[in-house]
Amino acid sequence: MSLSIMKFRLLFALVLTATTASAVDFKTQIAPIFRLKCFACHSTTKKVKGKLALDDAELPKQIGPGKNIIPGEAAKSTMWVNCTLDKDDSDVMPPEGKNRLTDEEVEIFKAWINEGASLTGGGAAPAPAPAAAMLPAAAGGVQKWTSSDGKVIEAQFMGLEGDGVLLKIQATGVTHIVPLARLSPESQEQAKTATK
Ligand code: HEC
Repeated sequence: MSLSIMKFRLLFALVLTATTASAVDFKTQIAPIFRLKCFACHSTTKKVKGKLALDDAELPKQIGPGKNIIPGEAAKSTMWVNCTLDKDDSDVMPPEGKNRLTDEEVEIFKAWINEGASLTGGGAAPAPAPAAAMLPAAAGGVQKWTSSDGKVIEAQFMGLEGDGVLLKIQATGVTHIVPLARLSPESQEQAKTATK
């Protein structure tokens, strides 16, 4: 049995339609990091330090062989490397080790580059399971689950983790963590009842 679980932060639609899935989604997982931690100095709407703008429209210019983001090669990508430098390093980004990327952000940024730094793709590929999420398979068969925006999937309830629901998607056999807030009120109720 292979039970793989990923943090599911995308819309249901991606689970249903993802064909060439990569694990990291630019829009929901990378762009927010740039916005929060880089835009103050690297955005055309604010400042463009080091001639580097990370707005959606400008970002493609930074991606490619020899550029700041080298698809498939995070370790050679200045953009990522500079974020991992020692806080006292003169090249560390953000500068002076202020508002640094968290370890999780560093990892996700790295994974995104190593998967090809796609600005459009991303989605529901399985990733290694966090240990805490390895719950024994719950009883109860496949049920219908509805997302907050009305999409329906068939999945088996596998447990709760924090405020996420572990759902094993019938079509793919892959288990995802779906934030409770992404489910319709009825499906949230269904999850809560299932744990009793
Ligand atoms: C407080 C302002 C500030 C913030 C925030 C900031 N940077 Fe910078 N960044 C700079 C400055 C200033 C330079 C130019 C340094 C130089 O040329 O010596 C620079 C340069 C860079 C460079 C080198 C560009 C080149 O081609 O030489 C990269 C890559 C970079 N920043 C990435 C980032 C990333 C990624 C973030 C967010 C995680 C970030 N920076 C956040 C101020 C900032």
